[in-house]
Amino acid sequence: MAKGNGNGSSNGSANGNGSSNGSANGNGNGSKSRARVGAVLEKTDEKIRGSQAWLAIFRPGSVYRRGYTDSPRNRSYVIMNNVLYHLHPVKVKRHAVKVSYTLCLGGLSFFLFMLLTVTGIFLMFFYRPTATSAWSDIQTLETAVAFGSLVRNMHRWAAHLMVLAVFLHMCRVFYHGAYKSPREFNWVIGVILLTLTLLLSFTGYLLPWDQLALWAVTVGTNMMGYTPVFGGSVKYVLLGSKEIGNDTLLRWYVLHVLLFPFVIVIFMAVHFWRVRKDGGISGPL
Ligand code: HEM
Repeated sequence: MAKGNGNGSSNGSANGNGSSNGSANGNGNGSKSRARVGAVLEKTDEKIRGSQAWLAIFRPGSVYRRGYTDSPRNRSYVIMNNVLYHLHPVKVKRHAVKVSYTLCLGGLSFFLFMLLTVTGIFLMFFYRPTATSAWSDIQTLETAVAFGSLVRNMHRWAAHLMVLAVFLHMCRVFYHGAYKSPREFNWVIGVILLTLTLLLSFTGYLLPWDQLALWAVTVGTNMMGYTPVFGGSVKYVLLGSKEIGNDTLLRWYVLHVLLFPFVIVIFMAVHFWRVRKDGGISGPL
């Protein structure tokens, strides 16, 4: 492969030499110095392309690399050696790339998760999870921070839409019978993803520390308190105290920005890997 590349570049400048010889009669000195510059450039080009740094970046499989002949074997190499191409299989079934089959709902759920991560990081710069500052930080964000209101609303809407997208994705999978063998394991991973999505949504709901959030969490944790046998302990773990307050806010904040995102990313990776291992997207009914 390296040969193809090297030849391509040296041929180009060799031609340049040829033409400069032709006009050497009239302007000897000029064409000589041009030829010398050409030779130096060619040498430098060879040196750079032969360097370890260049070969490490533009190695076979790189999108920038040329010289691959278009053969089934080389196409496989390109896919296998490039992390971005590797996200997709070498061959895809025709129905799997049709938007009308999957409605891209899984991809949409993933996109919304990425959007939530980016907007969430922005919000973290302006929000402190304490009972005294949470609500006022949100007010400051809405009124005094550039794009604060926009980003907060993007985060809120993306959260609602992600719950909807994940649910519709599950319905699509069910409708196509894609939960059946060999995809039953991925269905279970999916159920875990749905649970984590709902948990992320619910823990985020408390963070503005407004009346709506406060009473939603009070009602939610009271319901959990009626769990047989362990009810009291479950409620205590969820509140981090005997009643809703600072400890609850800190606990749910850590779950919302750290633990649940971390766990959901791991399960998403397993989910995508399983799609590939189960032979790609299921076939049409
Ligand atoms: C965070 C949530 C989720 C994300 C980001 C996600 C992402 C994806 C993606 C990108 C695909 C490829 C095909 C497509 O877009 O439909 C897929 C397929 C699949 N997902 Fe999900 N998913 C999620 C939740 C779920 C849930 C809740 C279930 C079911 C309970 C599920 C079960 C499946 C199954 C069985 C497949 C294979 C479908 C087939 O072969 O036709 N996923 N998922």
